Amino acid sequence: MKKLYSLTGCVAAALLAATVSISAVKDTVADEKPAAAKTPDKAALERTRKTVQTLDNIYKQVVILVTDKYVHDEDDFAAGSAAVLLFKKISDSGSHTVRLLDATGEPYEPKNVAKDDFEREGIKRLKAGAANYEQVVNQEGKPYLRALTPVPVVMKKCIMCHEHYADVKEGEPIGAISYTVPIE
Ligand code: HEC
Repeated sequence: MKKLYSLTGCVAAALLAATVSISAVKDTVADEKPAAAKTPDKAALERTRKTVQTLDNIYKQVVILVTDKYVHDEDDFAAGSAAVLLFKKISDSGSHTVRLLDATGEPYEPKNVAKDDFEREGIKRLKAGAANYEQVVNQEGKPYLRALTPVPVVMKKCIMCHEHYADVKEGEPIGAISYTVPIE
């Protein structure tokens, strides 16, 4: 049991390390930006980045906690499933949207994959070692911060269901969380 706890400690540290601050805005998606849309002010953008970091930390801690305390064998309700369900309910409730994505090319569920250029490019960058990837976009004249953060292989238990995680290079993410948060 002791071993499990120290493993969980490592995991938490790994995840926290992955949740580092979001760097400068990379670029803007041209086709999502109508000519009339204004660039968001710096303070609002910074607040939104902080929100993403806070959400990312909470979501990742939840996945670790669920896996550690509730998942004992392959038939248990997986943290991945819990995260997918939680993210759907949060997204439906309207404050921001969030999705869990595969980065290995072998998702458990085919729907959990990058769906657009931003997510595809982000996964490439995260796998190449970026701490995160972000873009400011305008949708219907309103600015949003899109951000992708890495999900590393964190516990041995993950491999119980996702066997191929064992073959992933150390430190390379196996997944990502994709956020779209309004800049207000
Ligand atoms: C008990 C089995 C089980 C365990 C343990 C498990 N997962 Fe999953 N995981 C699943 C299932 C099932 C899904 C698909 C959920 C859905 O779409 O409803 C999933 C989905 C995912 C996804 C989304 C991409 C995909 O493959 O569909 C990621 C990323 C993920 N899990 C990461 C993890 C990590 C990291 C851990 C360890 C902390 C973990 N999983 C532990 C079963 C598991």
